[in-house]
Amino acid sequence: MTRPKILVTRAIFPETVERLARHFEVEFNPDDTVWAGEALARHLQGKQGALTTGTERIDAALLSACPQLKICANMAVGYNNFDVAAMAACGVVGTNTPDVLTETTADFGFALLMAAARRLTESEHFLRRGQWQKWGCQLFAGAEVHGSTLGIIGMGRIGQAIARRGARGFGMTVLYHNRSRLDAAAEAACSARYANKEELLRSADHVLLALPYSAASHHAIGAAELAQMKPTATLTNIARGGIVDDAALARALRERRIAAAALDVFEGEPAVHPDLLALSNVVLTPHIASATITTRRAMAELAADNLIAFFEQGRAITPVTAVPAPHTPNDKETS
Ligand code: GLV
Repeated sequence: MTRPKILVTRAIFPETVERLARHFEVEFNPDDTVWAGEALARHLQGKQGALTTGTERIDAALLSACPQLKICANMAVGYNNFDVAAMAACGVVGTNTPDVLTETTADFGFALLMAAARRLTESEHFLRRGQWQKWGCQLFAGAEVHGSTLGIIGMGRIGQAIARRGARGFGMTVLYHNRSRLDAAAEAACSARYANKEELLRSADHVLLALPYSAASHHAIGAAELAQMKPTATLTNIARGGIVDDAALARALRERRIAAAALDVFEGEPAVHPDLLALSNVVLTPHIASATITTRRAMAELAADNLIAFFEQGRAITPVTAVPAPHTPNDKETS
């Protein structure tokens, strides 16, 4: 029987590619080039499945150029690179990698929050530039973390894991805002209280974004929202670029309308708004919140599990698109 053909779009772990090669005919990308548009369509020709990452856009144009494609298994929990409506219309399943990255991503969110509050990278750059001449009473004096108020916007798995760290580890008062309110047991488990967005922005000492990107969350934090925050507050974004209006944030940071920010994600990344690069009161990292070896391996393996389950058992494990009728194992797998 002909084995399904799949494309692994970016350089991942060789062990995962070897495992996939035991089930499928695999084309992979050892050069780690980011394929987009026609280049991606070319590599996807004749492939029934793809292990994708957030750097590949799966949209209607690509799907119409790749009619054999049945599944895209994203190695990410976020899937805003998928046009889910177009995928559903073409009967293409999309999957993501929830759970396996929750705690690791929450760790990093907390690291960024602390780095912004305690001016970690700013003070290190000062030291490395040879500017440290003497101890100073207010030298890089920042904002308190323990005992302060944490405001989390987006209270899914990662938001809740951050709430637990804040409440239990740092004695913080935790407010959250979410599309839908958690039930009482879930609120109690992370010691968090629901607040409307304005109350949260006005009261939080540290605002952290953990919501998915969509048309509805585009620029959810812009000039108006930044103006509601305390001048001593910090803003941390581990969610997606585009949720924050980066130009408005740069203005607010430059004019000290908020104290500091920490960003792992950017509008139009890997480009970073030049005004942010010029500021010292913002911590900037290159989209690495889930980047531990253990977690990235688990994400790659879950994406591979989804492909294997889909082609061999007829159903993906963690689908994010409306699931078409169960796939019959090994049907129409020839090119
Ligand atoms: C990373 O950004 C992810 O969505 O997993």
